[in-house]
Amino acid sequence: MQDALREACALLQQGEVVALPTETVYGLAADAFNPEAVAKVFAAKDRPTFDPLIVHIASRGDLKTVALVPEEIAETVDQLTAAFWPGPLTLILPRHPDVPDLVTSGLPTVAVRQSAHPVFRAVNKALGRPLAAPGANRFGSISPTSASAGVKELGGRVPLVVGAGACSEGLESTIIAIEPREGKKPVFKLHRAGPVTKEQLQAFGRVEKVRDPVGQAPQAPGQLASHYAPRTPLVLLANPGEFKPEPGKRYGLLSYTGADDGPYVLLHDWDCIECLSPGSGKLAEAAIRLFFVMRQLDEAGLDFIIAEPVSEVGLGVAIMDRLRRAAANQSNHL
Ligand code: TXA
Ligand code: MG
Repeated sequence: MQDALREACALLQQGEVVALPTETVYGLAADAFNPEAVAKVFAAKDRPTFDPLIVHIASRGDLKTVALVPEEIAETVDQLTAAFWPGPLTLILPRHPDVPDLVTSGLPTVAVRQSAHPVFRAVNKALGRPLAAPGANRFGSISPTSASAGVKELGGRVPLVVGAGACSEGLESTIIAIEPREGKKPVFKLHRAGPVTKEQLQAFGRVEKVRDPVGQAPQAPGQLASHYAPRTPLVLLANPGEFKPEPGKRYGLLSYTGADDGPYVLLHDWDCIECLSPGSGKLAEAAIRLFFVMRQLDEAGLDFIIAEPVSEVGLGVAIMDRLRRAAANQSNHL
């Protein structure tokens, strides 16, 4: 591993990109202060440059090198970073002028977090510079939560994928912007649901969802309605009674618990069933497994993936957000 870390640092110093594990998903990292390196991130992912990147810092103290924290929210930023960093919470803050336009897609704000993954942190620290890193997937496709998935997405397009097993969270970070309120707790605008839940954030402020961009031009660009999508059409089936299978087609079920007597499992003679939470039926396990399971179903030669909804509490909000986006480019209605 030491050799891989050294190689990663050397490549990043030369202005190359490297895929690295984070606790959420594998990321494709570049020196955030080097616009040519950042351009390679967009190229390797086929990502449009209107979709800005998250900047990862090695320590809380480095925040001031990439963002200008306004006085009105300084205390809240301190509280949030003390509570959730290093970890899967991304803050949208006014950008520091040193951050290249390409990183923020020209926005006056920058998205920042500190990763909790030991490998990512070690590289970030050794490099001594912030790392711009989106997920290490081709634009719009399923995020990689293992080294092999990272290689499948970007192998041959990037000089190095550093492997460190499966990601411990499995879903991309929660993204919020902070709006101060005179004499009251601030409002957190939730740009993306993720591992840090609304319930956890509510201790520090009021959480409001940013208007959903389905069918609208993207205002938080990466929040495109269709995202994280398998190539196989995925249908989020809210009501099992509405399932009308076409004869001769192969259907796979993305089940929550996979329980033999569950209404979704019993609905059809499925070609395959994959379970989000085969063990305990817990949302944390489901979050970790979601992209992995989606990928398995995508590789199973099915005509359709039918996904069972999970309850929208805690981590279930982020899981349902990803399932809706995975389903959003399907014209199929069952
Ligand atoms: O967990 C994560 O956040 C992973 C790991 C690698 O850290 N990264 C990740 O990056 O998910 P990406 O590029 O897939 O998602 C970044 C999101 C996009 O939706 C983008 O639009 C949003 O962050 N974003 C970045 N800068 C922004 C800004 N200034 N204002 C609003 N949204 C922003
Ligand atoms: Mg992504």
